[in-house]
Amino acid sequence: MRILVTGGIGLIGTACCQLFLKEGHEVVSVDNNTRKTLFGDEANNLANVDNNEFLNNKNLELVNADIRNKEVISEIIKKVDAIVHLAAQPSHPKSLEIPMEDFQINAYGTLLLLEITRQLNPKIPFAFMSTNKVYGDYPNYFNYKIIGKRYENAAIESFNEELPVDRCGHTPFGVSKLAADIYTQEYAINYGLKTATFRGGCLTGKNSRAVEMHGYLPYIVKCALTKKKYCIYGGGYRVRDQIHSFDVATALYEFIKKPKPNNLGIYGKVYNLGGGRENSVSIFETIDAIKAKTSINLDFEEVPERESDHMWWISDVSRFKKDYPSWSITKDIDFIFNEIIEYYISALRLPVKLLERDYFKKKSI
Ligand SMILES: NC(=O)c1ccc[n+]([C@@H]2O[C@H](COP(=O)([O-])OP(=O)(O)OC[C@H]3O[C@@H](n4cnc5c(N)ncnc54)[C@H](O)[C@@H]3O)[C@@H](O)[C@H]2O)c1
Repeated sequence: MRILVTGGIGLIGTACCQLFLKEGHEVVSVDNNTRKTLFGDEANNLANVDNNEFLNNKNLELVNADIRNKEVISEIIKKVDAIVHLAAQPSHPKSLEIPMEDFQINAYGTLLLLEITRQLNPKIPFAFMSTNKVYGDYPNYFNYKIIGKRYENAAIESFNEELPVDRCGHTPFGVSKLAADIYTQEYAINYGLKTATFRGGCLTGKNSRAVEMHGYLPYIVKCALTKKKYCIYGGGYRVRDQIHSFDVATALYEFIKKPKPNNLGIYGKVYNLGGGRENSVSIFETIDAIKAKTSINLDFEEVPERESDHMWWISDVSRFKKDYPSWSITKDIDFIFNEIIEYYISALRLPVKLLERDYFKKKSI
């Protein structure tokens, strides 16, 4: 296959490029490094592709273009066999500063890709990376108890796709992604496109060029390792399930290889995608894990919560697993922490050692 990956130099984009190339496909990445424009030098995604694997791969074309460039994108879409759409303004706090730009990239950009696909190449699979922020802060209306160093949801183990999306606050990001998410469904329902929407939880890995506004786990690790004060917004009992970028890429790959319609033959399925309970950690648990793994005490300050931040999120991925039973999470929470810690030690040449690789495994025994 020849596969278009939008946002191809980002965290998930590079994982997708690597996987698809390894599986013998050709890849066209479209990315104009908006991440650096939005968040500054620390967020420069070009660092992810500044290596032989990306620069000298004859099966990979790196196109520096905006997804809203209709001419460029049309030429590419005509000649591909699948689309994985990842390009986004990815931060909910950032979207409060730039609601118009956020809408333009996330909602309009996605609609444009769908429309070009409909006009020029309507039979190909189209995977869209959405977000659990489409559910707004609805998760916060559940009851939570503090158990140990985390909140626990008194009613349910994890959130499935039945969670409502209305009567709650979203931030402009949640709204622009929800618009894109529903357009992606709509283009399947009304025009027969083979789309699917993946509502991601906390996607992570060493290629996250993390900043305070985006990239929770790498950013907190980076703060600890570089002795920078970390702001905890709204308390440290907040829980997130972490999924490694590789496991996101394999899920998207399963879909584009074999798109599945619902039992009426209509595509446009929606899947929650996250690391699940096994890979869930609270902020306080994250701080303890960093301490155990590196002996570094994070310097932190507790400040009021950010708009529409989830108190607790654990994804129920059973719908996706039912459709794609051979897919599973392959990177556990120790692997995820170790990879990120080792990445920063090496990239920033820090005099720190990874002391404990199996902290979470030992804890759960
Ligand atoms: N990282 C997470 O925790 C998370 C959670 C849920 C959903 N998602 C979604 O997953 C997708 C990938 O996110 P990521 O973590 O890899 O983020 P990322 O910022 O690393 O990657 C996104 C890429 O899109 C590019 N981009 C943005 N606007 C563009 C435009 N107009 N034209 C061309 N390229 C553009 C950026 O330069 C960046 O390289 C996004 O759609 C994001 O909303 C991410």
